Amino acid sequence: MRHFTGVKDIGDLHQALQEALEIKKDRYKFVELGRNRTLLMVFFNSSLRTRLSTQKAGLNLGMNVIVLDVNQGAWKLETERGVIMDGDKSEHLLEAVPVMGCYCDVIGVRSFARFESRKDDYEEKILNQFIQYSGRPVFSMEAATGHPLQSFADWITIEEHKTVERPKVVLSWAPHPKALPQAVPNSFAEWMVAAGYEVVITHPEGYELDSRFTKGARIEYDQMKAFEGAHFIYAKNWSVASPDNYGKVISMDRGWTVSDRQMAVTDNAFFMHCLPVRRNMIVTDDVIESPRSLVIPEAANREISATVVIKKILEGLQGQ
Ligand code: CP
Repeated sequence: MRHFTGVKDIGDLHQALQEALEIKKDRYKFVELGRNRTLLMVFFNSSLRTRLSTQKAGLNLGMNVIVLDVNQGAWKLETERGVIMDGDKSEHLLEAVPVMGCYCDVIGVRSFARFESRKDDYEEKILNQFIQYSGRPVFSMEAATGHPLQSFADWITIEEHKTVERPKVVLSWAPHPKALPQAVPNSFAEWMVAAGYEVVITHPEGYELDSRFTKGARIEYDQMKAFEGAHFIYAKNWSVASPDNYGKVISMDRGWTVSDRQMAVTDNAFFMHCLPVRRNMIVTDDVIESPRSLVIPEAANREISATVVIKKILEGLQGQ
């Protein structure tokens, strides 16, 4: 593997799952693979899970790990070519990225949607500049339109807990006070369809996700109907993804907050969320604290998904 930005890069899904389970049994099995290799993790946005789990993954593989918080202590970066840099930005990404590439072997990048331009966000402008100019393999630690390390971890978690071969997995929109990107729901839909599950997406009208990610899933605007007989409920907020009103919040309807009312019509479903989560907006205290909540196992599997991905990248570097 050279770069990792989506499900297409992981190769055979079931082989990836076997590797994940192998690593879960012995996290240090491939500790020699990363000896004298350096992982640079670049954060344009905040993180708890991604920061810790990816750093741990690098250590599992014997790597040296450097973390750069671009907005804390680095020069403020300009990202647009052609701009006259007479403002507060001291360095251009076009120099900063190749310089970062000089100090490492592999780069992880977190760069959320900015909601300034749907076109720029959906073209993954920042992530792609790293791929183009760093000279290093690059993996997404959540970009503008996808969070594949999260979805890989979610998929491992579902495989570990499912009791039927082809579970019904429901991705449900839930309310949130701020505009949130579509990265997590886009990736989740993409990975669940690729896994061959029955995938239903439920949200208020106007919150349709990009069909590039949801192809193969069924859309159901009635949340209660969507939840009927479900085996896994994945709650998430996202702001409007369509070109009209892109990045806007058009509903704060707390009738969509996942509670015992909706869970009662499922097939004793597990509850999932990528975290961080706003309690009693996205999900009630009772549901997230119930024995059917998988939010902690999902977070734990982030270490595993990151270890598999970085291992595959390191394998691609062998002999170089
Ligand atoms: N789920 C997730 O990516 O968490 P962080 O934003 O804390 O990294």
